Amino acid sequence: MIDDTSRLKDNADHWAMDLVDTAAMLVDGEGRLIHANPASHALARRIDPSADPAADPQRLLALIQPSNWNDALATGRWSGQVDAGPLRLGVRLYTTARDGRARSLLTMGELSGGVTPEFELQLSREELHDTARRLAGTQEQLLQSEKMASIGQLAAGVAHEINNPIGYVHSNLGTLQEYLTALMALLECHEAALHADDPKAWRADVQGKRERLDIDFIVGDLPKLLEESREGIERVTKIVQDLKDFSRSSGSGEPMRLVDLHKGLESTINIVWNELKYKVQLERHYGNLPPVECHPSEINQVLMTLLINAGQAIDNRGTITITTGCEAGEAWISVADSGCGIAPEVLGRIFEPFFTTKPIGRGTGLGLAVAYNIMAKHHGRIEVSSKPGVGSVFRMVLPVRQPVSHSA
Ligand SMILES: Nc1ncnc2c1ncn2[C@@H]1O[C@H](COP(=O)(O)OP(=O)(O)OP(=O)(O)O)[C@@H](O)[C@H]1O
Ligand SMILES: [Mg+2]
Repeated sequence: MIDDTSRLKDNADHWAMDLVDTAAMLVDGEGRLIHANPASHALARRIDPSADPAADPQRLLALIQPSNWNDALATGRWSGQVDAGPLRLGVRLYTTARDGRARSLLTMGELSGGVTPEFELQLSREELHDTARRLAGTQEQLLQSEKMASIGQLAAGVAHEINNPIGYVHSNLGTLQEYLTALMALLECHEAALHADDPKAWRADVQGKRERLDIDFIVGDLPKLLEESREGIERVTKIVQDLKDFSRSSGSGEPMRLVDLHKGLESTINIVWNELKYKVQLERHYGNLPPVECHPSEINQVLMTLLINAGQAIDNRGTITITTGCEAGEAWISVADSGCGIAPEVLGRIFEPFFTTKPIGRGTGLGLAVAYNIMAKHHGRIEVSSKPGVGSVFRMVLPVRQPVSHSA
C-alpha cells in the first residue's frame, strides 16, 4: 500500500514525466500504475483506437511479462522489445527500492518509423549489457555448482578422513574412563590409609593395589592418550575448516586478498587426500612465494581440479609432484603426475566445457573449463605439457599483484 505522504511525493515528481514526449509510466512494487504521462495515453490509443480510453496505459503495462519485471527487480533494469498490435515497441524498465518500497519507471518508444536509430542502437546495447550481466551471474553459479559437485564427489573420502580420528578419540575416551576408575580406586585406598590409626600398616595394601591396577603403566600412557586425542580433534577441526573455506563462494563483488598460496595448497591436499593416499606418493618442492593477490577459494578450486585429475590419471601407483616458485612478478604452482598422459590430438580440447575422456558418471568435463576461467579472471593462465604413457604437467601461473583494477 502507498501511504498519503508517498503519494504526494510521487505526485510532485509527475510534472517532469508529463513534459517528455516518450511514453513514461510510474509503477509501484505490486505492479500498480501510479502515474502515466500524456504520451503513454497517446501511444495506447495508437495501438488500439477502439479500446476504452480509461484503460489505456494499463494496457501498456500488460505488455510486460512477469519475468521481465522480475529481471528489473533483481538487477535494477530491464530493456527489450514487445509487439503491441501494429507497432513494435522498445521498452525500458528501471526499478529502484527506496524506504523499503519498490518503484519502477517504464518507458516505451515505437521502434519502426518515429524512433531514431540511436534509440534502437541504445536499446540493443542495453540488451547486450543485460545479457552480459545475466551470463556473468550464470558463470558464477556454474563455478559454485562445479565446486559443490567436486565436494559431493569427495564427500565419502572426507567423511572417512573425519571418521578415522573421531574413531580413535572415541576409543581413547573409553580407555580414559577405565584409567579413571583405576585411579579413583587407588585414591580411595590412599584415603583409607590416611584415616587409619596406623597408616603404615596399609603400605602393603596400597602397594598391592597399585600393582594390580597397573598404575605405572596408566601414568605413562595417560599423556600419550590425551595428546593423541587432542591431535585427532585438531585434525577434524582442520578438515572442517578447510571444507568451509573451500565451499565458501567468493562472491563476484568481494575484493581479492593477499594470500599464502602454500596454506591453500595444504588445505586442498587435506581435502583430496583420501582420493590419493592409496595410490599416490606425493612429493612437495616448495619454493619461496610472496603473498599473492587472489580469491583464495577459487584458486584452491583450481588446485583441487589439478590434483584430482592427476590422481585419476594414475591407474595403480604413481607420483604426484607439486612444485612452486615465483619469477618476474608471477607465482606458479605445477602439478606433475606419472599418469597416463594426454594424446596430442585431444590436448587442444581439454579446456573445453564438457570435454571429457572419462566414463559417464566419472567426469563431467567441467573441471578444467572452470579452472581456465578462474585463472583468466585472475589475469593468470594454465600451461600444460604431456606425454602419453609418461605423465602430464599442469602449471598454473598467477600475477603476484593484479594489474590495474584490484577486483575482478
Ligand atoms: N592430469 C591429467 N592426465 C591425463 N589427462 C588429463 C589430466 N587432466 C585432464 N586430463 C584430460 O582432460 C579432460 C578434461 O578434464 P576436466 O577436469 O575438465 O574434466 P574431467 O576430469 O573429465 O571431468 P570433471 O568435470 O569431473 O573434472 C579429462 O577427461 C582428461 O582426458
Ligand atoms: Mg577433472
